[in-house]
Amino acid sequence: MVAIRRLVVSPPLINSSSPSASEPNQLLELFESPHTGAVTTRTATLTGFSETSEHTVVFTNNSISSVNTYGYSPHPLSAYIGYVDAILSSAPEHSIKPFIISITSSSPISLASMLDAIQELRAKFHDTEGATSRIGIELNTSCPNIKGSPPPAYNISGLVPILDALAECFWKDPTLTIGLKLPPYVYSTQFDDLVGCIATYSRPDPSDDSRRLNPFAFFTSTNTLGQTLLFAEQAAPAPLSVVADSDGGAAPAVFALPTGLGGMAGEALHPLALGNVYTLRRLLDAHTDTSLCDIWIVGVGGVTTREAHARMRKAGAAVVACATVLLREGVSVFEKLSIPSDGGD
Ligand SMILES: Cc1cc2nc3c(=O)[nH]c(=O)nc-3n(C[C@H](O)[C@H](O)[C@H](O)COP(=O)(O)O)c2cc1C
Repeated sequence: MVAIRRLVVSPPLINSSSPSASEPNQLLELFESPHTGAVTTRTATLTGFSETSEHTVVFTNNSISSVNTYGYSPHPLSAYIGYVDAILSSAPEHSIKPFIISITSSSPISLASMLDAIQELRAKFHDTEGATSRIGIELNTSCPNIKGSPPPAYNISGLVPILDALAECFWKDPTLTIGLKLPPYVYSTQFDDLVGCIATYSRPDPSDDSRRLNPFAFFTSTNTLGQTLLFAEQAAPAPLSVVADSDGGAAPAVFALPTGLGGMAGEALHPLALGNVYTLRRLLDAHTDTSLCDIWIVGVGGVTTREAHARMRKAGAAVVACATVLLREGVSVFEKLSIPSDGGD
């Protein structure tokens, strides 16, 4: 069992945001699994994302890896609020299993209205009372597939207005558990810049001014790695949609994805994800502002076996999550990934 502030995650194994957590029946199945300690919803925007046949996923034929071109959920946040409301309303009486609602916005104004809507839902469930919450938030700062819009967490100064909106909401209501979904970083100063920026948000804890508190309770690391390319012969099962690309007279190349490039995840991402989790944990623990030690890490990337799950924990993750293997194998995979000593609900 791990408590990320007021979110009790037991066992500390969850799904990471993806199209496997898009529809109400999928969310219910994840919620009802005794092998998941929380449910993360697919990333929602305020008004929904326009999805086309270009948005898809393929898997590699030699490992459990994926490349995808998805943006965000076609359903707006209001739909997820309805789904979570319905599931929590009919949950067993003493259930404290939480939902982590994944959201994104590049506009602080839209983000503020999304936060208001989530706070309204929390109020309905008296989520600010007692010792635990059943609803937290993960801000996706790291989708690599949005045309013309780089993942904000690769550009820290661009991220600040969004973090400001989250922090403002937190200081009004410190019972709100907020996490950030981070991209895979590939050189050390990217980590330093992120952690340095997050440290500027710490303040004395309003309920105990001998302590300091940071509005951000957890980092989910990592999202997919953008700009990767698979040829059709590397994909399995054979992709339904392929394009021929003739470039400067070269022989046509057949790609696995309709647009060629996409975000990579699964086993191919695992070493980079382990390195990100390890580096973030060390930097947070070593920071002069000790409130950063209280930021937990949800480790994601290539967790497809129990051994990979254990490695993620050794690297520094308090909670471990997966997406690719869930898309491939369904919710029953959580039993296979479980570490028996973690127990379950
Ligand atoms: C098809 C697909 C769609 C995804 N959609 C989202 C999303 O909507 N929001 C998000 O934060 N991450 C999304 N991700 C990233 C995953 O949550 C996860 O961070 C990444 O895939 C690494 O985990 P894995 O190796 O277990 O797949 C998606 C991943 C895949 C494969």
